[in-house]
Amino acid sequence: MKKEIDWANLGFGYVKTDKRFVSNFKDGKWDEGVMTSDDMVSISECAGVLQYAQTCFEGAKAYTQKDGSVVCFRPDLNAKRMEDSAAYLEMPVFPKERFLEALIETVKENIDYVPPYGSGASLYIRPYMFGTNAVIGVKPADEYQFRIFVTPVGPYFKEGAKPIIIRVSDLDRAAPHGTGHIKAGLNYAMSLHAIVDAHSQGFEENMYLDAATRTKVEETGGANFIFVTKDNKIVTPKSSSILPSITRRSIMYVAKEYLGLEVEEREVFFDEVPTFAECGLCGTAAVISPVGIINDHGKEIKFPSGMEEMGPITKKLYDTLVGIQQGTIEAPEGWIYKIK
Ligand code: PLP
Ligand code: COI
Repeated sequence: MKKEIDWANLGFGYVKTDKRFVSNFKDGKWDEGVMTSDDMVSISECAGVLQYAQTCFEGAKAYTQKDGSVVCFRPDLNAKRMEDSAAYLEMPVFPKERFLEALIETVKENIDYVPPYGSGASLYIRPYMFGTNAVIGVKPADEYQFRIFVTPVGPYFKEGAKPIIIRVSDLDRAAPHGTGHIKAGLNYAMSLHAIVDAHSQGFEENMYLDAATRTKVEETGGANFIFVTKDNKIVTPKSSSILPSITRRSIMYVAKEYLGLEVEEREVFFDEVPTFAECGLCGTAAVISPVGIINDHGKEIKFPSGMEEMGPITKKLYDTLVGIQQGTIEAPEGWIYKIK
C-alpha cells in the first residue's frame, strides 16, 4: 500500500523510508551487500570520510509512469559517473552491474514511497560511498561503505516551474584541474558558504564562473546551464571543471533528435549571456528550472522570457524530457529501466 504522504506538497527533503542497501569493502573486495532497515552509520572517529572528506555520491530518480509502471531514468550513466568519481578519489569502484542491481532492488524495497503519476513528485535515489577506516596521514582509506537510500521528493526550487533569480558568485566552486568534473561531496562543501549567502540575499542559486579567468559560465551549485539563443539554438557550457550532467546530455539529445533544434556545447563567455533569450538550470533534482534574472553585482540580466513562466523553448524541452521520463513520449532505446 502506498504510504500516506501529501505527495503534491513535498519539497526537496529527506524522508526516512523502510529500506536501504549497504555493502562494505574490506581486504580488497566488496561484500555481497544487504538490504537493511537500519538508517544509522557507525564508523571510526578517524574515518577517511570524516577527516579528509573521501566521499562521492550520485543522484537519480524513479517515476511512476502513466500506465502504473515504476521506472528509473538512465541509471547506467549514474553508475558510470560514480565509477569515475571513485577512481578520481582513489576509492574502489563499485561495479556498474552491481550498482544497477542494488539501485533497482532499493527502489523495489521502497515501492510504496514512489510518488503516484501526476503528483509532480518522484523518488530521489542517492547512492554514495565513503572511506570508513581510520586514516590520519593524508592517504586513501582501505575500507569503504557503499550505500543507497531513497526519498520521495518534490521540486528542488520552491518556485517549481516558475522562473528563479540567481546571482553571479564571487566565490569559486571548482578549480581548473580540480574535482569539478566528479560528484565529490567536497565540491558541495565548497558551495555551502556561497549558497547560504545567496539565500540570505534573496537569490536561489549561484552562477559560478571559471576560476581561472572569471569570464566564462560554468554551472550552479547543483545544476548545469542551458541557454536558448534568439534564433532558438540550444547552447550549453563546455568546461572540464563542471559536472557532466545526465539531464543536460539528455536534453541536448532531445533538442536535436526530437525537436530538430541546433545544439552547441561550447565555451560560453559571461559577456554573451545578455544576448540569450532563455536560460534554465538542469539536473536530476532541478529537472529544468527556468532562470528569469541573473544578478551580476547589482546589475540585472533579465531574460525576455520574464518571471511569470518558462520560455517557450525551455517549455518544449521540459515537456519532452518529462514526457519521456513519465512514459507519455517514447524514450530513446536504453533510457528507461523498468523496475515494476
Ligand atoms: N551539476 C552539479 C554540480 C550537480 O550537483 C548536479 C546534480 O547531480 C548536476 C550538475 C546535474 O547532473 P545530473 O543531470 O546528472 O543530475
Ligand atoms: C542531483 O540533482 O541529483 C544533485 O545531486 C543536485 C543536488 C543539488 C541535490
